[in-house]
Amino acid sequence: MTDNLEIKITKADHTRLSVTDFSQLPFGKVFTDHMFTADYEDGEWKNLQILPYGPIPMSPAIAALHYGQAIFEGMKAYRQPSGKISVFRADKNFERLNKSATRMSMPTLPKEIFMQGLEALINIDEKWVPNQEDYALYIRPVMFATDPYLGVKASESYKFALLTTPTGPYYSNALKVKIETEFTRADEGGVGFAKTAGNYARSLYPFEQAKKEGFDQLIWTDSVTHEFIEEAGTANLLFVINGKLITPSIRSTVLDGVTRDTIIKLAKQAGIEVEERRVSVSEVIEGIKNGTLTEAFAAGTAATVTHVGEIGYKGEVYKLTDPSTRHISNGIAKTLNDIRYGLVPDEFGWNWVL
Ligand code: COI
Repeated sequence: MTDNLEIKITKADHTRLSVTDFSQLPFGKVFTDHMFTADYEDGEWKNLQILPYGPIPMSPAIAALHYGQAIFEGMKAYRQPSGKISVFRADKNFERLNKSATRMSMPTLPKEIFMQGLEALINIDEKWVPNQEDYALYIRPVMFATDPYLGVKASESYKFALLTTPTGPYYSNALKVKIETEFTRADEGGVGFAKTAGNYARSLYPFEQAKKEGFDQLIWTDSVTHEFIEEAGTANLLFVINGKLITPSIRSTVLDGVTRDTIIKLAKQAGIEVEERRVSVSEVIEGIKNGTLTEAFAAGTAATVTHVGEIGYKGEVYKLTDPSTRHISNGIAKTLNDIRYGLVPDEFGWNWVL
């Protein structure tokens, strides 16, 4: 049992709830009234506080801006039928945050700061957790280096923050994705498995090019041969081929997605055979052509379960099955949602009900 930490609370002098249109919630643009922050200085985390959401004063020389020591996470809190709020698999996100921190030479965060900060923030902004179907409170933990110093070295000071934003699904329709064979997202020995800002930064130019060609998202391939599928950058990828659920195995170039892990566990529980292994581009394209690939979807906290509708590869666009016929992914997505929203028993103990 951990003692309660001292968290200083400064309340916003008014709430923005009444001027927020909950029927129009673009992802990540509307923030709740408060945020949680903590500072790492002199080898320890201190200054735990909840304060009104807003700008954070900082030097333009901070290390995060120049050398990219910045990591983040994504989680969601859901309104339960009882009216209570439940955070989904916060432990897993906490563990991954610290894995990312270690790889990026940043200090790890004690679990009690993460959990108690989150609980205090959600309690204070409780009314911001949406009630509508498919909506949730998206939680964005972020940590960044704050030394105002231009020498290239690991910073000695950091800020951790928790931001919260009510949101619907990140994607609204089945995706048209392009298999990327020129640019790469991650390389062996690099930082692909860490949720660090630079992974997203390097994806933006290829993503913008693909958007001009009419695609919604990229499928990244391995950096050496471009023959194997890795992930989608904003989500992991899963396929149903010959009735089996198949997904690229986790390696140093692939983010160990919490939703991916959850789906694998639910699929196994439902008696669906699951293969985590290298997935080649050719088996995906062949599978579409010969009809053995019946489903494909992206899975992530923000993305939830989003069907892949079309796949572009080397100038050809391949159309997949009608999403309404996809029984495996639709079934898993429903079970996942029902657990998150507290509509069925939480057998795996994934919900942290506050
Ligand atoms: C999440 O799913 O929480 C993510 O962090 C993906 C994000 C880049 C949209």
